[in-house]
Amino acid sequence: MADAKRMVRVFDTTLRDGEQSPGCSMNTAEKIEVAKRLEMLNVDIIEAGYPASSPGDLESVRIIAATIKQSAIAGLCRALEKDIDAAREALQKAASPRVHIFLATSPIHMEYKLKMTPEQVLERAVDAVKYAKKFCADVEFSAEDAFRSEPDFVCKVFSAVIAAGASTVNFPDTVGYAMPQEFGARVRYIISHTTGMEKALLSVHCHNDLGLAVANSLAAIEAGAGQAECTINGIGERAGNASLEEIVMALRVRKDYYNVDTRIESAQIYPASRLVSQVTGVKVQPNKAIVGENAFAHESGIHQHGVLANPATYEIMTPESVGISKKELVLGKHSGKHALSERLAELGFVIKGKALDEVFANFKALADSKKTVSDRDIEALVIGTAGAVPEKWKLDRWVINAGSSVPSISAIRLEAEDGGMREAVHFGNGCVDAAFSAINKLVGKEVALEMFELGAITGDTDAQGEAMVKISYEGGIWNGRGVSTNIIESAIKAYVAAINSMESESAQRSS
Ligand code: KIV
Ligand code: ZN
Repeated sequence: MADAKRMVRVFDTTLRDGEQSPGCSMNTAEKIEVAKRLEMLNVDIIEAGYPASSPGDLESVRIIAATIKQSAIAGLCRALEKDIDAAREALQKAASPRVHIFLATSPIHMEYKLKMTPEQVLERAVDAVKYAKKFCADVEFSAEDAFRSEPDFVCKVFSAVIAAGASTVNFPDTVGYAMPQEFGARVRYIISHTTGMEKALLSVHCHNDLGLAVANSLAAIEAGAGQAECTINGIGERAGNASLEEIVMALRVRKDYYNVDTRIESAQIYPASRLVSQVTGVKVQPNKAIVGENAFAHESGIHQHGVLANPATYEIMTPESVGISKKELVLGKHSGKHALSERLAELGFVIKGKALDEVFANFKALADSKKTVSDRDIEALVIGTAGAVPEKWKLDRWVINAGSSVPSISAIRLEAEDGGMREAVHFGNGCVDAAFSAINKLVGKEVALEMFELGAITGDTDAQGEAMVKISYEGGIWNGRGVSTNIIESAIKAYVAAINSMESESAQRSS
C-alpha cells in the first residue's frame, strides 16, 4: 500500500514580507480584501503584518484577526517584550492567533546588526518565546539569516526555544544565498540534530535573490520541512519570496515525486494573483509560471495543433486547475444579475448582497458603453470595488483640451466629502500633467507621481483603459487604480483613488 500523503502547511506572508517590499504597500481595506482571498485559498496561516512597526499596521492586523476565521493569523515581532505586547493586542480577536518572533543567528547579523554575543542571542530568544507563551499557545520562532548561521548554533537555539514552548521553528534563507541541494541537506541536518523536533514543525522561508526561492523551498519540503512560507506572485523584499502558486502547483502536479500535498484550493490561485497585482500596482511578468499572461498560451502552430488534439501534449496542468477560465463567455447589456453572478462564481469571485448590487450597477454602466463585456472586464469591475476606501474626493466631471501645437489645459471638478463641488483649471505638459496638477491644486497638496502605467483590459478598440499610479507625499507611498472606456478618465480616476487612499490613512492616523 502506498504511504499516505504528508500535508505541508502553507504560511502566507504577502501581507507582511510582501507588503514591506518597495512599491507593494497596501491600505487597510486592500489588506482585508487580500486576507479574505487568502482565506478562500485555504492557506493555513496568514501573516497579517508587523503590529509594532506602526499604529496602522497594528490596526490592520487587528481587523484581519477579527475578520478571518478559517486561517490562523500571525503577527511578526522582534524578540522584544514591547513588540510581543503589540502582537498580543492586535491578535486579541483571532480565532487561531500565532505570535511569530524573529531574531538573527548568523555571525554577521549578531556582530554588526544586533551587537550581541551568541549567548545573549540564545537567552533573548528563549525569554521572548516564554513571554509570548504566557498568552499565546502557538508561537513560531524564526532564526533570521539561518542559512548563513553556524548549523550547530541554530540547532542549539531551536532546541532551546522548543523547550520554551515554540511549536514552529523557522529556518529562513533571508538573503537568498542557498543552493537547492545544499539547502535540503541543511534542513535534514537541522531536523535530525535539534532536540525536541518531534514536538515542533520545521518551517522554511526562502528569498529569491538568485532565483532559487521555490527550488530551495521544495528541496526543504523533500528533506522533511512541514511548513513553507511564501507570497502570492512571489512579492517580497528585494527579489521577493518563494511564490505560493509555484510551490503549491509543483507539489500537486508532481505528487508522484513528492507524495506531499497542501490544503490550498488551487482554483483560487489566479483570482488571488490578480487581486494582489491590482492592489499593489505590481504587474505579473507575462512568462511567470502558473499565473503569467502566457503561462497557458500556445503560440507555435505545432504546439497549438498538439493542444487541440490533446491538451496534455503541452500542458502539465489545466488552466482551470489554477482558476483560469478558458471558456470565454461574453456578457452584454441584456445580461441579468443572475448571469453575472454565475459568471463571477466561475471566475472564482463569490459576491453577494450589496457588493453584488454594486458590481451589477457598474456592469450595466459598462455594458452601455461597450458592445461586449469579457471576463477580463468583469474581473476588473470586481477588483475595482475591492479594498475601496472612503471617497474623500469623487470625480464629477473633467474636460481636457490638448493637441500637437497647443499646451494642454484641464478643468477638473471633484465632489468633496461634504457634497460641495470644487473645480480647478491647470495647464500642463500633456493631458496627464494638466489633469494631475489640477487635482493637486484642488486637494491643496503637492503630491508627486512616482509611477504611471496605462494599459487596455481587452484588445478591442472600445476596450476599457486601466491606469495604475503610485503617488508619494511626505514620505508615504499610495497606489490607485482606475478603469474606464476613456483612457484619460482611467488615469484621472486612478490618481483620485490614490489620493483617497492617502487621505483615508491620514484620517485613520489622526483619529
Ligand atoms: O527573511 C526573513 O528572515 C524574514 C524573517 C522575519 C522570517 O522575513
Ligand atoms: Zn523574509
